[in-house]
Amino acid sequence: MNKLRIPQIIQKKQKGEKLTMLTAYDATMARLMDRAGIDMLLVGDSLGMVILGHDTTLPVTIDAAVHHTRAVSNGTRDALVVADLPFLSYQASLEQAVNNARRLMQDGGAGAVKIEGPEFDTVRRLTSIGVPVMGHLGMTPQSVHQIGGFRRVGKSPEEATRMIDRATALEAAGAFAIVLEMIPHDLARDITAAVAIPTIGIGAGPHCDGQVLVSYDVFGLFDEFVPSFVKRYAELGQAMTDATARYIDDVRSGRFPE
Ligand code: KIV
Repeated sequence: MNKLRIPQIIQKKQKGEKLTMLTAYDATMARLMDRAGIDMLLVGDSLGMVILGHDTTLPVTIDAAVHHTRAVSNGTRDALVVADLPFLSYQASLEQAVNNARRLMQDGGAGAVKIEGPEFDTVRRLTSIGVPVMGHLGMTPQSVHQIGGFRRVGKSPEEATRMIDRATALEAAGAFAIVLEMIPHDLARDITAAVAIPTIGIGAGPHCDGQVLVSYDVFGLFDEFVPSFVKRYAELGQAMTDATARYIDDVRSGRFPE
C-alpha cells in the first residue's frame, strides 16, 4: 500500500511544495528511486519505447502495462504509483475503462491511473467509483500520428484557450493532477494558475507544480530519442557498456573467475 495519498499530493500545491515524478518500469529501479524519496512513480506507456524498443507508445497493451505496474508496485514502499492506461484501452466504453483501471489497480497494485486527452466522461466515471485519475494534456504521445510527430503544441491563442478549458474541465471531472507535456511555458503557467489541482510538467517549463521525466533519459540509459528539455543526471548507459566490455575482457583473458 502506497504511503503518499492523493490528498497529500494536492496539499503540496497549496503549500507551494514542488512535486517530483519519474517513470519506472521494474521493481529494482522503482526501489532505487523510491528510496531516494521521489513523490510519484509513473509506469508510463513510454515503456513501449524505452523497454520494448518500439518507435511509439501505441503498441503497449494493457497486459504489458499491468505486468510492469505489478513489478513497480513490488519495489515501491512510499511513492504513489501511477499507471498509464495504454492507447485504446479506455476509449471504447466506460465499461472498458473501468475494467482496465481495475486491472492496473487490483492486479498491478497502482494507486492511480493516467489518461491522455479530453476524456472528461471517463475521468468522471472513474473518479466517481474511487479510481484516482491523473490527466495528460499538450503533446499526448498516444495521438502522435494525429499531432504529426513528437512536437511542441499549444502555440496559437486558440489552442491555448482550448487547453485551459480542457484543464479546468478535467479538474471539474475529478482529476487529481494533470501532466502538461511540451507546451509553451507561459501557457503552463496560466493553466497552473487556473486549476487548484497540481500540474506536472514535462518540457513545459518551471511554472508547473511539479516535474516528470522519463527515468531512462535522466539516467542516460536511452539514446534513441532524447528530447531537448531533458536533463541527464547520470551516464549509466556508458557505465554499463564499459562494465560489459571489462567483463568480456576478463572472461576472455581468464582474469574472471579468479
Ligand atoms: O509514458 C510516459 O512516460 C509519460 C510521461 C512522459 C509523462 O506519459
